[in-house]
Amino acid sequence: MNTNVEASLNHQINAEEHSSRLYFSMAAWCDKHGFEGSAKYLFTHAEEERMHMIKLVHYVSERGGTVLTDSLPKPQNEWDSILAVFTEVLAHEKKVTGMINSIFEVCMQEKDYLTSNFLQWYIQEQVEEESSARGVLDKLTLAGNTQGGLFHFDKELMAMAAASAIKPAL
Ligand SMILES: [Fe+2]
Ligand SMILES: [Fe+2]
Repeated sequence: MNTNVEASLNHQINAEEHSSRLYFSMAAWCDKHGFEGSAKYLFTHAEEERMHMIKLVHYVSERGGTVLTDSLPKPQNEWDSILAVFTEVLAHEKKVTGMINSIFEVCMQEKDYLTSNFLQWYIQEQVEEESSARGVLDKLTLAGNTQGGLFHFDKELMAMAAASAIKPAL
């Protein structure tokens, strides 16, 4: 496997695991602050990010590359509000989209068309994840900063978490 592509994929394996732990941390914050539905939604999201990591691990192995497990950055543990949590979810997903695009560029430079084809799944997934994060932020804006509004927002997220079965990434 091309060494630049292999290094980029290993970097993304680390990034997906970090995303998982960030959402896990956000879920714990929501749980602690009484947002049970938001916690469930973010725990599910954390599991999805883990699946993204595992799919990459399998791909690197299949192509004869070496998976390198690196140390992870410490995720943030405190937020000022539920709005701050979900604002960061969208910002984080946009950052990840940029990372996937960068790997795609490396594949083009190295003429690794198989990996660029494999990455299409991640590109599509980022479209969905950004759209989902925007949708949650819209709901939060509609709810306003009132107890009643936030109660309904959280119930809605509980329903969304229940409806979204974890997508098989393998
Ligand atoms: Fe991901
Ligand atoms: Fe994501």
